[in-house]
Amino acid sequence: MSIIDVRELSKRFGRFTAVDRVTFTVEKGEIFGFLGPNGAGKTTTIRMLCTLLRPTGGNATVAGFDIVKQANKVRQHIGLVAEKIILYDQLTPSENLTLFGRLNNLPASEITSGIERWLGRLHMEQWKDKQVGTFSTGMKQRINIARALLHRPSVVFLDEPTLGLDPQTTRFIHDFILELSQEGTTVVLTTHGMGEADTLSHRIAIIDRGGVVASGTPAELKNLVSNNDSGMIDMEIPNLNEAMLARLKQMQVVASVVETDAHHIRVRTKGAEAPGPIVNAISAEGGQIRSINTAEPNLEDVFLHFTGREMRDAASGKVTSVRGPVLGSGTSRAR
Ligand SMILES: Nc1ncnc2c1ncn2[C@@H]1O[C@H](COP(=O)(O)OP(=O)(O)OP(=O)(O)O)[C@@H](O)[C@H]1O
Ligand SMILES: [Mg+2]
Repeated sequence: MSIIDVRELSKRFGRFTAVDRVTFTVEKGEIFGFLGPNGAGKTTTIRMLCTLLRPTGGNATVAGFDIVKQANKVRQHIGLVAEKIILYDQLTPSENLTLFGRLNNLPASEITSGIERWLGRLHMEQWKDKQVGTFSTGMKQRINIARALLHRPSVVFLDEPTLGLDPQTTRFIHDFILELSQEGTTVVLTTHGMGEADTLSHRIAIIDRGGVVASGTPAELKNLVSNNDSGMIDMEIPNLNEAMLARLKQMQVVASVVETDAHHIRVRTKGAEAPGPIVNAISAEGGQIRSINTAEPNLEDVFLHFTGREMRDAASGKVTSVRGPVLGSGTSRAR
């Protein structure tokens, strides 16, 4: 049985559907990346799974318990690092954690040992008696994470845990998330950092406008995009000019052209035989190609493929109903 099992979960706010029949499963110890553009419905889904919001449709179990009928049980097994840091600035880390522990009815001995364990592991022990209000964002976030883990939950939801953190703290949190997963804790991670999602996630679901549009391992998702009768070519052209770009953009086989710098372009192609005509077109404009490489798509390419600018523009009137293929079981949905 999956540790998180989400079936057709929906949330309407009045007439607006924020989460629309979302289905996915997460296995024990997995790091599950939950990605999507702003407003896609990630936080709303997480809030339902954490029993903070009541679904208007579908159902889900977390750690084997129904999120509606057994909400108290679910709460005992989950930890939430919410989008906003929830700490009292006037209190010290020890006082904050003690307060949250008591609110959650944890025995005093567990609170004491939990504070020691998590502040130690998050390298915050020397700050445990200083006021949180004087801390940097990175320090506050580490306390915030300790708070979510105090009761040793088996499932942790991290909603943009590295937002606004410096590279050092971000790297530290990444290592910490990997350790949690290696110890068997299940992690649901929401982030706008595609590199972060790629390196950390065992599996990923991409959600857009309330629905899952793709899911799979990072490698499966990248394969989906590169096999999707399109490709990417990186070219170095020392004498690159506007005429070459304009000519490429008019070609049938070219989906998009991006100048990565003054001498480099990345061409997204339609169809496998595209490189030939593209090289000819550049040559015809006097372009000298110094190097040409087929580029592997990264997770950002995957994300843009499924949620990309074209589809975003649909909000201004045009409705795009074309969806890419969906990987993994039970992730497709009627539109
Ligand atoms: N309480 C609410 N009442 C009405 N609409 C809401 C409420 N909460 C969220 N929404 C709407 O639901 C949609 C999904 O919001 P949600 O916060 O889940 O997005 P998100 O994917 O977490 O986005 P972000 O990346 O910006 O954090 C948004 O359009 C939001 O405005
Ligand atoms: Mg959010």
